[in-house]
Amino acid sequence: MTLRERIASVTANVGVLGLGYVGLTEAVALASVGFRVTGFEVDRARIDAVQSGRSYITDVPDEELLWAVRSWNLTATSEFERLRDMDIVLICVPTPLGKTRAPDISYILAAVDAIQAALRPGQLVVLESTTYPGTTTEVVLPALERTGLRAGEEFHLCFSPERLNPGDRQHTVFTVPRVVGGVTTACTEVATALFARIASEVIGVSSPQTAEMVKLLENTFRAVNVGLANEMALLCRALGADVWEVIDAAATKPFGFMPFYPGPGLGGHCIPVDPLYLSWKARIKGFEPRFIDLAHQVNGAMPRVVVSLLAEALNERGRSVNGSRILVLGVTYKRDVNDVRESPALEIVADLVRRGATVLYHDPYVPALSVGARTLESVALEDAVLQDADCALILTDHSAVDYKRVVETAPLVVDTRNATAGVVDPDRRIVRL
Ligand SMILES: NC(=O)c1ccc[n+]([C@@H]2O[C@H](COP(=O)([O-])OP(=O)(O)OC[C@H]3O[C@@H](n4cnc5c(N)ncnc54)[C@H](O)[C@@H]3O)[C@@H](O)[C@H]2O)c1
Repeated sequence: MTLRERIASVTANVGVLGLGYVGLTEAVALASVGFRVTGFEVDRARIDAVQSGRSYITDVPDEELLWAVRSWNLTATSEFERLRDMDIVLICVPTPLGKTRAPDISYILAAVDAIQAALRPGQLVVLESTTYPGTTTEVVLPALERTGLRAGEEFHLCFSPERLNPGDRQHTVFTVPRVVGGVTTACTEVATALFARIASEVIGVSSPQTAEMVKLLENTFRAVNVGLANEMALLCRALGADVWEVIDAAATKPFGFMPFYPGPGLGGHCIPVDPLYLSWKARIKGFEPRFIDLAHQVNGAMPRVVVSLLAEALNERGRSVNGSRILVLGVTYKRDVNDVRESPALEIVADLVRRGATVLYHDPYVPALSVGARTLESVALEDAVLQDADCALILTDHSAVDYKRVVETAPLVVDTRNATAGVVDPDRRIVRL
């Protein structure tokens, strides 16, 4: 049977390298439509969790994972030699920044090494990790072709960005269109046949580089527009206008405007990181990416802006940061997820501690938080905790928190997310970004 036939009959064996936010979500989705999926992981704890149906990703409920494992469609392993049994291999490993804020593609290189050792004719390899344009053809392709096998002939190679949005139940791997760019047209066609089994629509583009750029444009668009919203927030404060009201009213325009909101800074594995992959590659080509740098500067300054806002609000009440008790509400980088990677809360908490504040936090998704050498534990949101704080600082607007109660109970509330929108505030306790 050809690979196309195996995909059509859902008998292809799919290997997913890296069972994180992206890999686990996709592995469960592919298992749910009937593919036999093997997750390849280096983290023993994650393998054990998957094998026993315990999910560590908020968007993958335990029941779904348990079903995928029990029905024998999904298994997890560290035996990379089993990659040879796979018809399809999806690479979903991390792509962080290194110490100098340059791309660190070492995880991709390690994944490619493992695949190279097991590559055989008839396989499809898809790189899904977000990376700089050129990675698929300049790094992955030559490494795999060193086996003597030719892409587009003996094996297939594509880039297809994962576009999932953690915490978003509406836009999922099933509903968001998929973009695929193969090394050859044949590569694109095979991967299109695979992703058509789960995605609502598959868009084939002319090359892996185009697909890589699509992802970076999408995330740079977000970073730049959030940067604009943050700049507008500071500008509105200077003018005495309410930025949240301005944005909401502007968003009533049915064309030519899309709302983005200010906040305490960018976080997560994607938006603060991905544009820097693009600017790194642009500079190698002698191109100065000004928008990316400016957005990075504006967004990167927001944690310090928040600390100043808090200091100003305390000062107006005759208090200083030093010696105050600050209750941080929400430490994840966005609402209703359990991810603290690159979260601005880490920088803000560290800064407050450095300035002599006593910092407590409440986050229903994060039981413990490491900040520098310290580990804080989430406190229960009891009335006494709110009353005893000099200020409740809202950094993430988790939907499980009752913000009306927060405003009624805490003496001062600094709100960086407009979580208290609509809450009546007769005592003028709320200070919004
Ligand atoms: N998190 C998101 O919302 C999101 C969305 C779209 C795209 N992406 C991109 O997808 C990629 C993966 O992101 P993530 O958030 O899933 O990362 P993650 O850190 O949650 O998961 C990556 C997993 O890969 C494992 N791993 C590392 N090296 C490995 C190797 N050599 N072999 C097998 N497993 C290995 C890690 O142990 C980890 O479990 C990144 O490039 C990211 O930018 C992420």
